[in-house]
Amino acid sequence: MSSTFGTLFKTTTFGESHGSGVGAVIDGCPAGVKISLSEIQAQLERRRPGQSRLTTSRQEGDQVEILSGLENGLTLGTPITLLVRNLNQKPSDYRKMANTPRPSHADYTYREKYGITSQSGGGRASARETLARVAAGSVAEQFLSLAFGVEIVAWVSQVGSVEGVLSESELETLLRYDVDFSAVRCPDRQKANLMSAAIEKAAADKDSLGGVISCLCRRVPAGWGEPVFDKLDALLAQAMISIPAAKGFALGSGFAAATMTGSEHNDCFVGNGVKLGTKTNFSGGVQGGISNGQSITFAVAFKPVPTIGKAQKTADYEGHEIVLEAKGRHDPCVLPRAVPIVEAMAALTLADLALRQRRL
Ligand SMILES: Cc1cc2nc3c(=O)[nH]c(=O)nc-3n(C[C@H](O)[C@H](O)[C@H](O)COP(=O)(O)O)c2cc1C
Repeated sequence: MSSTFGTLFKTTTFGESHGSGVGAVIDGCPAGVKISLSEIQAQLERRRPGQSRLTTSRQEGDQVEILSGLENGLTLGTPITLLVRNLNQKPSDYRKMANTPRPSHADYTYREKYGITSQSGGGRASARETLARVAAGSVAEQFLSLAFGVEIVAWVSQVGSVEGVLSESELETLLRYDVDFSAVRCPDRQKANLMSAAIEKAAADKDSLGGVISCLCRRVPAGWGEPVFDKLDALLAQAMISIPAAKGFALGSGFAAATMTGSEHNDCFVGNGVKLGTKTNFSGGVQGGISNGQSITFAVAFKPVPTIGKAQKTADYEGHEIVLEAKGRHDPCVLPRAVPIVEAMAALTLADLALRQRRL
């Protein structure tokens, strides 16, 4: 029943959605890394509910406190404890649904597994747990940036059936600033408007929408990733699919590779005077489970949010058919808030592999 991710850069998250707080303990972050608290807070702000009309109206301050492992802005090499206290608990929103497992949420499976459930909300299955990942991920990202110059940018590339498109040159220079230009976090500005309208319509219909988040990690040195079971892409897939509501992972060309020929798909090498590069990047920067020095590119598919106000015929725990119209303040679409979570899980995966490579 572990809540720990990573081998050397090890992150454990703790806390229930409506308990006193949620946080993370990072064990294994190297000493002497300069950490900016405002960078951690900035990423938490991007995940926070209530940030725009496209997200749940729940207001959570999500102010991070660092309890250990940092002095004068530098890591000590000891466990780093990050804590966000819960200030907006409203268990009454969930009590009305206490006798009914929400369709496609984790209520039924948690009860089957543990025989006991958190008294309110989704407990550990609630997306509130992900703020701990975002805080820890920011520490990992700051380490990666200072030690290797790694840059991670994720964005919403699809909501429902609306797809955003970016050119090669837009991708090359894409920054978080461009992503955050629209509330939906899609840098294709025209499509961003269509996506926002689709989310607002779903909310008005008391329904929800899914979509896709794309991510690229620049300047990852060649050689990171273990050769067999802990391949870089395998660990990234695990990291991404562990995000609540994430249902699909595709590295580089992903499922499109299935319909291409070898001559179309091969990333032919070119010399750049120092090391080999590739002309194309269908491999998404990973070959044989090991980074090849190109940008790592991947996409994560998210399902539509399960808790919806629209009436649904389902059954309570006793098996009686009931009509459920969920109450509470839920997201009509997780995508805009999930962007920093994808970035955080990418950073935690890469930080761990960076340390594993150093130990060789
Ligand atoms: C940022 C974010 C916000 C979410 N908000 C909600 C929400 O308001 N209501 C809800 O039912 N599910 C929400 N979810 C999804 C549930 O947490 C998730 O569907 C549930 O834990 C079951 O896990 P699974 O979908 O991976 O099977 C959210 C997920 C994320 C990543």
